[in-house]
Amino acid sequence: MKPIYLDYNATTPVDPRVVETMLPFLTEHFGNPSCNHQYGSTAAKAVIKARRQVADLLGCSPDEIIFTSGGSESNNTAIKGIARAYRQKGNHIITSSVEHPAVLEVCRHLEGRGFRITRLAVDSTGLIMPADVERAITSQTILI
Ligand SMILES: Cc1ncc(COP(=O)(O)O)c(C=O)c1O
Repeated sequence: MKPIYLDYNATTPVDPRVVETMLPFLTEHFGNPSCNHQYGSTAAKAVIKARRQVADLLGCSPDEIIFTSGGSESNNTAIKGIARAYRQKGNHIITSSVEHPAVLEVCRHLEGRGFRITRLAVDSTGLIMPADVERAITSQTILI
């Protein structure tokens, strides 16, 4: 009997529509979109289209969409980007004690560079109490 897979938090099967859409770019149109030969420009057009589709989905401008290689790079980019952009407004970040290391390690890195990090505890069901978040907010808080 096949075991039941319960680790969707880590990986999931890829949606068949995604496989179908991606397949030509894994086999035929595999060029580097940053290169201006024909293989690259085909890939670049697909990246531009994908960026527009994601922007439409989120209701933002395509130049606000940054594609990364995965979760850790995304967390690093977002947290360090906000920390840098809002440094003049404040130095306080609120997170939880149960975040993925890709979040907690960035926060630790920023702590060594003058930021103050509050790590909120969770209850026995893994939830954060909204009142704890409210209490933790200060005039220096730039990111929760
Ligand atoms: C919240 C979160 N951040 C980062 C990661 C790591 O992602 P990656 O392996 O794509 O860097 C994971 C992986 O499960 C995650 O759940």
